[in-house]
Amino acid sequence: MTKIGVFVGSLRKDSWNRKVANELVSLLPEGYETEFFEIGNLPLYNEDWDQSGSVPEVVQDFRKAVAGVDAFIWTTPEYNRGVPGVLKNAIDVASKPMQDAVFAGKPSLIASASTGSMGGFGSNHHLRQTLVFVNSPVVAQPEIYLSFIDKAYDESGKMKAGTRDFLAKGIEAFTKLIGHYQV
Ligand code: FNR
Repeated sequence: MTKIGVFVGSLRKDSWNRKVANELVSLLPEGYETEFFEIGNLPLYNEDWDQSGSVPEVVQDFRKAVAGVDAFIWTTPEYNRGVPGVLKNAIDVASKPMQDAVFAGKPSLIASASTGSMGGFGSNHHLRQTLVFVNSPVVAQPEIYLSFIDKAYDESGKMKAGTRDFLAKGIEAFTKLIGHYQV
């Protein structure tokens, strides 16, 4: 069983990005299991933890959980042309100590969603840059920028076929990349 960790960059109850994450998860083939990381209760990263060896328990548990998965799905809104602070904080918290390298060699799929016209382009690239630094190989294509995300669902709340098919292409590329790294 391949384990996928899911990060959602919005804490909003009715987050579009959480809906997109759920849709992506529903497209995973058999043989994959997922764990959604709840990042809203993590403390803000403080380097004193690692320098003094006194790391809060919630942080230790979170780092263990991230270390325990094989790959990552990320969905995020764009806040002021960048990654929301809560998501960047979660990466910073998990990324230390550096030698543990909990992201290294584990593939990532990024999707950004916005009700506006740019589909979270800025945050998508910002996140990609950070994931490159922590050495997570990111799916190159398709790039998933979902603009006017509120229009991608029908009245019953079901994602329309065109968007779902596009996400399926992302999942296909993601599972292929995972296969490459698991060889
Ligand atoms: C936004 N939003 C936004 N949208 C965008 O396309 N570019 C941006 O730079 C920003 N900046 C921004 C800053 C802050 C603080 C907020 C709260 C919102 C709008 C945002 O993309 C929109 O609210 C999304 O629907 C949020 O995603 P969720 O919560 O629905 O997943």
